[in-house]
Parts: sequence; structure tokens; C-alpha cells
Amino acid sequence: MKSKRILITTPIYYVNDKPHLGHAFTTLIADVLTRFFRKRGKEVFFLTGTDEHGLKIYESAKSLNKTPQELCDENSFLFKKSWENLGIEYDYFIRTTDKAHIETVQYIFNLLKEKEELYEKEYEGLYCIGCENFILEKDLKDGLCPFHLKPPIKVSEKNYFFKLEKYLKVIEKEIKKGKLKITPEFALKETLGLIKQNLSDFSTTRLKERIRWGIEVPFDKDQVIYVWVDALINYISAIGFYKNKNNFNKWWNKSYVLHILGKDILKFHTVYWPAILKALKVKLPDEELIHGFFTINGQKMSKTLKNVIDPNELVKVYGKEGTRYLILSQFPIADGGDIKESQFKEKYNADLANNLGNLVSRVLTLKNKKEVEINQKPSRDFKKILKETEKNYLKLMEKYKIYEALKEVFKLIDYCNLYLTQKRTWELINKEDKKSKDGFKKQISNLLISLEKIKDLIYPFLPDTSLKIEELIKNKKVEPLFKRL
Ligand code: MSP
Repeated sequence: MKSKRILITTPIYYVNDKPHLGHAFTTLIADVLTRFFRKRGKEVFFLTGTDEHGLKIYESAKSLNKTPQELCDENSFLFKKSWENLGIEYDYFIRTTDKAHIETVQYIFNLLKEKEELYEKEYEGLYCIGCENFILEKDLKDGLCPFHLKPPIKVSEKNYFFKLEKYLKVIEKEIKKGKLKITPEFALKETLGLIKQNLSDFSTTRLKERIRWGIEVPFDKDQVIYVWVDALINYISAIGFYKNKNNFNKWWNKSYVLHILGKDILKFHTVYWPAILKALKVKLPDEELIHGFFTINGQKMSKTLKNVIDPNELVKVYGKEGTRYLILSQFPIADGGDIKESQFKEKYNADLANNLGNLVSRVLTLKNKKEVEINQKPSRDFKKILKETEKNYLKLMEKYKIYEALKEVFKLIDYCNLYLTQKRTWELINKEDKKSKDGFKKQISNLLISLEKIKDLIYPFLPDTSLKIEELIKNKKVEPLFKRL
């Protein structure tokens, strides 16, 4: 990426429920990329937050005997707390109940009306509260929404529709030209497929007496703004679209805008959102990175199946860094896959306590026992493997293949462990002949230079561990990095 400045966003999460592993996955990807690009000298703004309007939240609050705002405050706080527990450092946390966001959404609605991008239409359809969207009869499975396994409700009302159809061709062109990049390939294909289906204009408002919990349409007190339109606008309201033009210019117009999201919400992001931006005459995001979903032991993660994993519970067992590792080392983000929690402990012990932890303590123990001067240059074989590892790692990270990049680092860790075992470096420590002394110095140098590289490359994934390795090297100390479980 050429741009020196990047805006990285995650979806804003619904607060009808607590954060789960799925939310943690996306937000961690954003954290890793933010840290990586910052280390490469880029200026990054990392935006996340919570999506707090809509019938889903209103009904959850009602069932818990709370006001919607109380539920929003409680659960939004839980998202913040979870990100803190996972060492996720965002720059701004937007809540759609923030006054500034509400004002921006209303301002944008007035703009769309002025530009004649909205029109009134009587609408009749089936509405799934879980999706917060209309659903077609043909997409139902046994009369139920296939995602939420609940029957939709019949809705008939007058709404303000957005003229999506007139923008489909323009968006298709921008995508094909690569002006709006959609990564990876499956997401690009799906988007182009959606555009080909000739999506219809969509309704951007709902009857207030039915939804109750939403931002009022500024020119029609009976209507509230559709929660998806409200939510998408967060990406520009958070950086000052309405009242801080300088900041908006900096982080939207003069920055590489990268949206990260799961494939469940592709249509809203790769078709609806670009169309809204076009209507507003605002630049499109530069890229949208779509990741796959994970299942838990082969099943969809859901409250009904009682298989929802709370990332905070994992942190209690594996610690902040252990949990980050376990989540990020499951599968390539493009693919998604099945999470096998029963294998977490084994993986933690094998990869972190043994491979990484032992390498660091073995090398530092040997080095500290004998004060040797470290060669500045590694031997030829190490030079080659270090160069290759870094090259592959950078290439992968630039393509957001963070799982594969993390694997490259662990390949280097394995290489070092094997070297140490094969060379039996510890046997040279008490030998006084020149060959042994030189051998020890060479081997320890190779390993220490590798540790420096490992700590740099692992930083975006395990920031505290990286700093800890640095501190141990500097202070000539040895402490276990990961407690065996
Ligand atoms: N509020 C909307 C997004 C509005 S963005 C303008 C929403 N919220 S959500 O709480 O349902 O979060 C959906 C996102 O959570 C997914 O796009 C994905 O990023 C993440 N995930 C939720 N479940 C997941 C998995 N099982 N696996 C991977 N990611 C998952 O949709």
C-alpha cells in the first residue's frame, strides 16, 4: 500500500448481546493490522464501536426489564472492557447513541432529501428482526429466516426509499477498475453477483410506532432511520463528516480507507454503503476486507445452541496474549473454519509455552551464563532464513494474510529450536578450547539475532510478549513467557 495514512474500521457491533468470539475475531484482525502498519511507519486511525438502535435492541431491553439506553450503556461498556482485556487499542469508539452521531445522521438525511435521492413509497413485506432487514418469501426455510430460525413479521408501511438502482452500474465500474477493492476473491465475486441481480431501491426509514428505538427522520416525525443506514454512517460521522471537516478530510479523503467485516454483512458494505457515498458525492472507501466465519465444533455459534464463546473467559485461562494467539492461529481469515476449543490448551502449551517460551529461555539462559561478545552478523544459513522469513512475512501481511504470516514466524521459531537441539549448544559452555568457544559464540549469536527478529515480527500479534522479550534481552534476565497449563 502506497498511502502513508490509513483508516481501519471494524463493523460496529449490536449491543443486544454481550461480545463473543466472532466480534473479537474481527476486532483483533483490525488491531493486528493497525500495529503492523504503524510499525511500518504509517499513520493509522483505528475505529470501532457499537450499533445501538433498532427493534432487536428495543426488544432485548424489554425482555430484561431495562430501558433501551440502559442496555446500550451496559453492553457497550462490555465491548470496551473486552477489547481492553484482549489488548486491543483502538483510537476511537463510536456509539450510535452519541449525540454527534445522531446529528450527523440527521444532517445526511436532509442532504439526501435535498439531492432528491429519497422518495416515499408504500411498502409491504416480511421483516426479520434478527437481520433488521426485509426478507423475501423465497429465501425463507420452512417459513423461518435461515439465519435466525425465527418467523419474520408482516409489515406494511410508508417509507422513504433510497435510489440504489441508479448507482449500481457506477459502483460496478469502480469495483472492476479496482478503485474500490474487494478482498478476497470470493467477496468480490459475491458483490459482482449481487449487482448483476439488479438489487432494488431500498427503504431507509421505518415507522416509528413500530421500531420505537431509532434516530428520528428530521423531516418526518413519524419515521425513524433504518438501523443499517444509521450504522453505516458511523464510518464518517466518527471522523467529523458533519462538524470537523479538517479531520474528515485528513482521515477519509487523504487516507487509505480500509473496512474490515465478516461475510454476513457484505451486501450492506460493498453495495449499499458505496451507493450512499456516491449520492453524497463522497469518495468511496479504498478497500473492503471480508473475512470468513467460524463455527464451534462444526456448529453455528448461537445462544440457542449454548455454544457461544466469551473471549473474556478465555483470557481468564490463557491470558491476554494466549487468547490473542489462539484466536489468530485458527485458520486463514479469508476462509474461516471450525474452532475446536478442546484443542486450545494443547495448542497453547505446544506453541507458546514450549516452542516460543522455551526457545527464549534456553537462549537467554545460555547467553547469560557466559558473557560472550555477540557477532553482529549471522552465519550464512541464518542470514538466508531470516531474510526469507521477513520477505514472506511482509508480503503476506501486506495482503492481510495474517494467519499465514504468523505461521512464518513460528517456522523460524521451530528452525531455531531445532538448531539449538542439533548443535547441542549447551555442551560447549564449559569447554575452553578455541573451536568450542568460537562455536558457542557463533551459535548464540545466530540465535540471539533470530530472537530479535522474532520479537519484531510477532509484535502485531503478541505485543506484550514482544516487549517482554526485548526487556529480557536488555536486562539479561530469564523469566518464563508463558506458564504451562
Ligand atoms: N451492527 C451490524 C454491523 C453494522 S456495521 C456498519 C452487525 N453487528 S453484529 O454484532 O452482528 O456483528 C457482525 C460482525 O461480527 C460480523 O460481520 C463479523 O465481523 C463478526 N462476527 C460475528 N459472528 C462471527 C463468527 N461466527 N465468525 C467470525 N466473525 C463473526 O452486523
